[in-house]
Amino acid sequence: MSTAYDVTIVGGGVMGCAAAFELASRGVRTLVLERSVPGAEASSAAAGMLGAQVESHAPGPFVDLCVASRDRFSSWAARLREVSGIDVEHRVCGITAAAFDRAELDKMEAHAAWQREAGLRAVPLRASEVRAIEPDLAADVIGGISFPDDARVDPPRLLKALRISAEKSGASFRTGAVVRKVAGDGARSSGVVLESGETIESAHVVLAAGSWSTLVGGTTLAPDAIRPARGQIVELQLAVPFQRGIVVGSKCYVSPRDDGRVLIGSTLEFVGFERGVTAGAVRDLLTSATRMLPRLEAADLGRVWSSFRPYTANEMPFIGPSPIENLWLATGHYRNGILLSPITAEIIAALIAGEAPPIDPSPFRAPA
Ligand code: GLY
Repeated sequence: MSTAYDVTIVGGGVMGCAAAFELASRGVRTLVLERSVPGAEASSAAAGMLGAQVESHAPGPFVDLCVASRDRFSSWAARLREVSGIDVEHRVCGITAAAFDRAELDKMEAHAAWQREAGLRAVPLRASEVRAIEPDLAADVIGGISFPDDARVDPPRLLKALRISAEKSGASFRTGAVVRKVAGDGARSSGVVLESGETIESAHVVLAAGSWSTLVGGTTLAPDAIRPARGQIVELQLAVPFQRGIVVGSKCYVSPRDDGRVLIGSTLEFVGFERGVTAGAVRDLLTSATRMLPRLEAADLGRVWSSFRPYTANEMPFIGPSPIENLWLATGHYRNGILLSPITAEIIAALIAGEAPPIDPSPFRAPA
């Protein structure tokens, strides 16, 4: 069987689904190929922290990309709700970084200083001020920083809304489709070849396979250009939610949900594709979270899980053209996949349409 599409997207995670929605909304005939089910991997397992500021470490194009993407979420969430009927639980709840010793606070204040110079809101807080924002922080908190514009979203809802919206806009999805390689003559892509041997022709291919991207043949990515970085998450359930926003400490972050669930993340481990939740990680996450927010000790223990972030050597994503003509990259988003999904999708859709992208993607080229 051979079907011609304008664009084939390899990977049905948040990046693939977002690009499909954006492309299909422009009338582009789009097919998403997913080896499992859309959103089965890192995308749905993420905590949903839209920490454009709290998770950026220096001024430059990366923080600009993160902020531009975060700031698209309000209108994106409204659009997704209109098309899919799903509320992705986007909340501009703010993120509070809480310090419990002088060294932590000094680091946070330096972080806030460059952000303010870059024109971003990062508000230094005394102990009383930090507890006024998050009253359940432990009494010995000494200060912190408020990032009032950082936000959160619910990743499983986001994935569901994106898939439904992409399909309603005309995109097709094939599950259980393992892509062996990008087809073509090595200079220009002409589609993809599946493990089954089937070739799917398309004018363009978008590689959005996250941690699995380098397993797809026929690209110029080095085998270790993207590596899985495992993250473990512990979920708690509170009868009555108490946190206002996300709280970040030096050893974990604590992200609330509207229904009283609280997600505590996350480890950072290079263990290949070995799934697993370890006793030590759960202990450390619970110790750090309850140290910051003692009321969590009374919460019910919920699920625990792990997933793989697509790590790159410079911790920046690969977005835009590749050395192979008509093969586009939307991968390697490491800790920021959910956050960067709207801007990545917009950039890819614009480039494929031959339009100027909303942000210059040249700092996010993959190494040749
Ligand atoms: N962005 C949070 C994480 O990757 O753990």
